[in-house]
Amino acid sequence: MSTAQERLTSTADLAAALRAWHQRDRVRLVKDPHAASLTSPALRRILRFRPATWFLAHWLLGGLKPVMLGLLIRARYAEQAVEAAFRDGIRQYVIVGAGLDSFALRRGDLVPPLRVFEIDRPAMQAVKQERVRRARIQLPSGLHFVPADLEQVSVMDALANSVFDPRQQTIVSFLGVTYYLSPETLAESARSIAAGVAPGSRLVLDYMLDEASAWPEHRKMRAQLEEYVAQRGEPMKSEYSLAAMSDLLADAGFRTLEAITMMDLAERYAEELGPLPFETPGLFACGLFGK
Ligand SMILES: C[S@@+](CC[C@H](N)C(=O)[O-])C[C@H]1O[C@@H](n2cnc3c(N)ncnc32)[C@H](O)[C@@H]1O
Repeated sequence: MSTAQERLTSTADLAAALRAWHQRDRVRLVKDPHAASLTSPALRRILRFRPATWFLAHWLLGGLKPVMLGLLIRARYAEQAVEAAFRDGIRQYVIVGAGLDSFALRRGDLVPPLRVFEIDRPAMQAVKQERVRRARIQLPSGLHFVPADLEQVSVMDALANSVFDPRQQTIVSFLGVTYYLSPETLAESARSIAAGVAPGSRLVLDYMLDEASAWPEHRKMRAQLEEYVAQRGEPMKSEYSLAAMSDLLADAGFRTLEAITMMDLAERYAEELGPLPFETPGLFACGLFGK
């Protein structure tokens, strides 16, 4: 793999590695038997040895561990939103910035008839397909890869090159992506999605809370996060209050079905499943929106 490809896969790799690591927890927000196979060979080697995993989690991630593990909360939130959408008759699911997401690979109970469209950069998708092949994981017939660089083409233009049917209701997820987009770019994407999907479609996403809405005791964590992503050349570009995100999406054509902080979601999940195995970052929120 080229250095450029490695750079492209790194955040998605870390996400898959953390999902794999989470499979050892007694309380699991996401059950993902494929996470380890989708992880890079280097991270997989680390995961095999507990002391190395401990090193990765405590030393390398340090104070950012809760931020990284927040991905499990957003993943559960989105998965439950997709399950609810399926119960309501929605049969298309678009994953924007899918990375090494394993939903379609492990939800044979839904896919097909649910059709899943994974959008990511071509290099990322090539890496994922190679890992799926090596792990001998069966690709479901309902899964469609839509290679696209979203800096060059819109979500709807990318989907137009696939068997996506704009007349059918759809749920679109934007996980781990919004903070890297400026509010203008997010508004533009949301407008294009709202204009392109059928009435009754839904949008699920996570985003960074603005300073006034975030938990004050996590200020240090926020500063560390900003430094970490800036060092990697992926600066955080936007943050919102719950109301500001609802307003932005209302302007784009989506009404708010739910807007909730990750802290409140963690409480919900702890009530459902028992105490969560990690600290929750008070820096993010999730939301479900309808057209
Ligand atoms: C942080 S990962 C999130 C992965 C997964 N959605 C999750 O929640 O764990 C961000 C993903 O967005 C993809 N991405 C970033 N910029 C992109 C672009 N311009 N076009 C397409 N995909 C992009 C990356 O390749 C990566 O897979």
